Amino acid sequence: MAERPYIVGNWKMNGTRAMLSEARAIDRGAQRLMKVEVALAPPFTLIHPVHREAEQIAVGAQDCSAAPDGAHTGDISATMAADAGAKFVILGHSERRQDHGESDATVRAKAEAAFAAGLKVILCCGETEETRDAGKAEAFVTRQLEASLPETVDGAAERLSVAYEPIWAIGTGRTPTVEDVAAMHNAIRALLVKLYGEEAGNEIRILYGGSVKPENAGELLAADNVGGALVGGASLTAESFLGIVNAAAELLER
Ligand code: 13P
Repeated sequence: MAERPYIVGNWKMNGTRAMLSEARAIDRGAQRLMKVEVALAPPFTLIHPVHREAEQIAVGAQDCSAAPDGAHTGDISATMAADAGAKFVILGHSERRQDHGESDATVRAKAEAAFAAGLKVILCCGETEETRDAGKAEAFVTRQLEASLPETVDGAAERLSVAYEPIWAIGTGRTPTVEDVAAMHNAIRALLVKLYGEEAGNEIRILYGGSVKPENAGELLAADNVGGALVGGASLTAESFLGIVNAAAELLER
């Protein structure tokens, strides 16, 4: 696990102002567990309110436009997200790739726009069940990632994280074996070293995402090259999300 594990909640299209109390509770919990970096990506509508109340956790967006401004009805630029209080953005999530037809090239352009606006980026990748069953998961994910990542990133170690999220594990309660997670994260690590050099490539945190819960977080976070978790469903309540943060903190004590 990374020196400072990174546990990020992705609220997806969940949450109205009534959920601000959960965000507050998550922030209070994170203040007690400072060795773990805790962050939350609520929907766009809650970025500013969560940012205003949070004292410890960073707030992020779940997407941004590749364009800086202009005639793009319904889109939000990286600068707008930053203006609302976002410090990072999740890009290339499989739900964006599926629901909005985002290609690797689109994801790369969005990442470049996000970095230009001063945001950190969590770039997502992951294979379908068919690809995994065909024994092609590592080849697919490394190719997808290489095509989605910007060729150069200033301060990559600090500003870039990668999230491995097998599509078949998202919201299903199923997870890969710890061995499969470690093998994939090792393959991603090798790619990051190839792209960004030994130093940055070895420091970029690689998060695992897909049905992470308090009960399985400890074993997944202990796997080789797992630097944190990107959590969907279990980040919606402070109780379950802080259970995962706690599991990360306990691993640090070992
Ligand atoms: P779940 O934790 O609900 O499986 O979602 C994972 C995810 O997609 C986080 O981005």
